[in-house]
Amino acid sequence: MRGKLISFEGCEGSGKSTKLRMLEGYLQEHNIPYLYTREPGGNPISERIRSIILNPENTGMTPACEALLYAAARVQLLHDVIEPALAQGKLVVCDRYVDSSLAYQGEARGLGQDFVRSVNAYAFENYLPDCTVFLDITPEQAFARKHGADENDRMEREGLAFHNKVYQGYLKIAQSEPGRFIRVDAVGDKQQTFLRVLNALQAHGIL
Ligand SMILES: Nc1ncnc2c1ncn2[C@@H]1O[C@H](COP(=O)(O)OP(=O)(O)OP(=O)(O)O)[C@@H](O)[C@H]1O
Ligand SMILES: [Mg+2]
Repeated sequence: MRGKLISFEGCEGSGKSTKLRMLEGYLQEHNIPYLYTREPGGNPISERIRSIILNPENTGMTPACEALLYAAARVQLLHDVIEPALAQGKLVVCDRYVDSSLAYQGEARGLGQDFVRSVNAYAFENYLPDCTVFLDITPEQAFARKHGADENDRMEREGLAFHNKVYQGYLKIAQSEPGRFIRVDAVGDKQQTFLRVLNALQAHGIL
């Protein structure tokens, strides 16, 4: 049987990687075959694209160029990593995916959701996640928890106003796709939030 695809979304420092590591522990304990991957990157070509996107020296990168680079990295990841794992029946768990493009490039950069959907048509049409966990915590709260932004990351260096637009973008997606896009309160401690994530995935028939 073909595997399912799930993604984790949220602002910088919302706890995606932490919860995904906890989920990996759970999947291993329960002998559930899975594949973990992250965006942008996850394979040699996409990791190279990632370093171009995140390099703080690339101050002149246009929003459209940024959106197209993310889309290009995604297509390669789908081909090299995600499709083979789904074909093997694995549960694919992705740290960021198409909704990051909707929130960051579509909303915060102002390109609009239609533009982002069109350049990512391959992913939206063939690989829409079965379910997306949105870790809901405001950028202010998340940055406070991780003690500030990572200065080596071009996206994290954007100011709070930008990250608040990203957050508003996520809330907009949550409203427009209540079936797939699950909002999980991520303000509490790690264990508490992880239990919420597990409950949500069970309620949606993923676990
Ligand atoms: N529920 C939580 N309670 C307290 N601290 C947390 C919680 N979740 C994550 N953290 C801490 O917040 C910081 C950011 O978490 P993490 O790296 O998982 O976020 P992320 O969403 O993957 O961020 P990035 O966008 O930078 O990849 C880490 O220091 C982590 O230990
Ligand atoms: Mg992370």
